[in-house]
Amino acid sequence: THVVTEACIKCRYTDCVDVCPVDCFHAGPNFLVIDPDECIDCAVCVAECPAEAIYAEEDLPSDQMQFIEINAELSQQWEVISRKVDALPDADDWKGKTGKLELLER
Ligand code: F3S
Repeated sequence: THVVTEACIKCRYTDCVDVCPVDCFHAGPNFLVIDPDECIDCAVCVAECPAEAIYAEEDLPSDQMQFIEINAELSQQWEVISRKVDALPDADDWKGKTGKLELLER
């Protein structure tokens, strides 16, 4: 499966959503996740993300491992998003920032 990581938090550009062939993305207030049971590992979304937030699970940076569980958990709670929407306000200011996990809204 593919995994959305911390870089998406407070950016949520949603370019990834438009290219997904299986609607595996689920959106929350300031983040979005991939449902591991729906993702077919096509990897098309990886290059679309301006924040470089999406990784194949086997390529996850070691400090992002907790996002495997976060994607699995929140995809069960949040609604499917199947069309791109506007990025969050200040998305460009938050792009590339680290330490955003504590800002994740559930
Ligand atoms: Fe997030 Fe990147 Fe998609 S910032 S919403 S994973 S395009």
